[in-house]
Amino acid sequence: MSRQVSICVIGSGYVGLVAAVCFAEVGHKVICVDNNEAKVNMLQQGIAPIYEEHLPEMLARHLNKGVTFTTDLGPAIEACEAVFIAVGTPQGSSGSADLSYVEAVVSEIARYVTSYKVLVEKSTVPVYTNEWVSRCMHRHGVEPELFDVVSNPEFLREGTAIEDFLHPDRIVVGANNDRSAQLLRDIYAPLTEGTYYTQPEALPGMCSPANPAKLLVTSAQSAEIIKHSSNAFLALKISFINAVANLAESVDADIEDIATGMGLDSRIGTRFLRAGIGYGGSCFPKDVAAFYWVAQQQGIDFQILDEVRKINAHQQEIFFNKVRAALWTLRGKKLAALGLAFKADTDDIRDSPAIDIIRKLIDAGVSITAYDPAAIEKTKAVLPPSDSMQYAEDPYSAAEGADAVIILTEWKEFGKLDLHRLNHALKFPIIIDGRNLYKPAFMQEQGFTYVSVGRPAVYSAQQGKPRKIVLS
Ligand SMILES: NC(=O)c1ccc[n+]([C@@H]2O[C@H](COP(=O)([O-])OP(=O)(O)OC[C@H]3O[C@@H](n4cnc5c(N)ncnc54)[C@H](O)[C@@H]3O)[C@@H](O)[C@H]2O)c1
Repeated sequence: MSRQVSICVIGSGYVGLVAAVCFAEVGHKVICVDNNEAKVNMLQQGIAPIYEEHLPEMLARHLNKGVTFTTDLGPAIEACEAVFIAVGTPQGSSGSADLSYVEAVVSEIARYVTSYKVLVEKSTVPVYTNEWVSRCMHRHGVEPELFDVVSNPEFLREGTAIEDFLHPDRIVVGANNDRSAQLLRDIYAPLTEGTYYTQPEALPGMCSPANPAKLLVTSAQSAEIIKHSSNAFLALKISFINAVANLAESVDADIEDIATGMGLDSRIGTRFLRAGIGYGGSCFPKDVAAFYWVAQQQGIDFQILDEVRKINAHQQEIFFNKVRAALWTLRGKKLAALGLAFKADTDDIRDSPAIDIIRKLIDAGVSITAYDPAAIEKTKAVLPPSDSMQYAEDPYSAAEGADAVIILTEWKEFGKLDLHRLNHALKFPIIIDGRNLYKPAFMQEQGFTYVSVGRPAVYSAQQGKPRKIVLS
């Protein structure tokens, strides 16, 4: 039987906010604390500061009932049994995770602990962070019997974060004693016992009363490593298919057929076998680097992780060269860029390969007109409108008078463009697609020169096939 737990979530970013509203959704009492006053003000008014499906409805449903938002940590700590730490752990200068936000939060928490609390690492952290959190609490004078530290890594994907949280593949709890593990079991009981899925308003998804969420209890160290190694493995899968794509392209094979053929093997699976311009976002790049760093610290040569990173960086250069090869020279050219977010269905542009490629093209003298369904506002903060960077309200106005279109993010709507309209808007019918959203033969029929990843380029009748492309 599930019971209501009082929870404090620190950090109201992509992970903390989703966790806070989802814990309220399954019946807990949540106080979400952030030190960003502007964000808290928005949340108190029911405005979601990030673009995420289902988030606005969930926020509206639970605001000031199951979940409240505040900048005031003390009362939140006093009122709760579990404190989820969901602040950022960005990449530090050596590649290691910068844990200064975590340390700052733990030192703050320590000031308010007067009864037993479980501190939960929700942020992605390197192995042994649980030890450091404990040590930090001791240093700040908190008696050992007043707290435990548990690792509960988060596996949600931006874009499907709410559904992933409520219908997880697995919940991992890394606890070094039964008392703290039991509290986490209680928190997730509505999902693991399946009672949440019986509710009429429950968000539909892959879990059900007959197939509830699975919870795995491990040691804290193992849980910390599960998160880092899962992300590193997914990044490896992407870099692997990108390396195969480069080989496929050089022998006129088709990476989409190859990925389908590989993915039908149930041991491999089709997911994360999409060739493109490389992975980005706020997790994979920093987590691969941090995991590599952790291994190095232990004297382990985890060279494959460095290769994963190198292949990923190279993939952007390859795309840049494709654009150059398709246009001959770059200075003074005008390009329509479709996509700014690091992936579809999010407004997150942190470490977005689209932004990196756009910057490189601007440096080479190209002027860009960009369109993205959700990420324009966030991009304006890092690439303000200028002569070389403009923003459009739709793909067709972005393409107006452009020398070519480049597709940088796999938004569904970019795979369903009105190609006739696009062709008319463009100066030349050229599309360089970094996400393989169309079939080359079809694009040729539509009159386009179409360059994609890991597949032979096709040429419009007007452009003709070059005898050989020599990069100048
Ligand atoms: N974004 C993802 O898809 C994802 C998925 C799984 C795990 N993670 C991990 O979760 C963690 C958080 O990621 P995110 O994307 O939600 O980060 P984020 O930057 O979106 O959010 C972090 C929040 O913490 C707040 N914060 C920082 N210091 C604080 C303090 N002292 N007190 C109160 N609030 C404070 C910030 O204001 C911000 O709102 C990271 O470790 C990340 O690697 C992220």
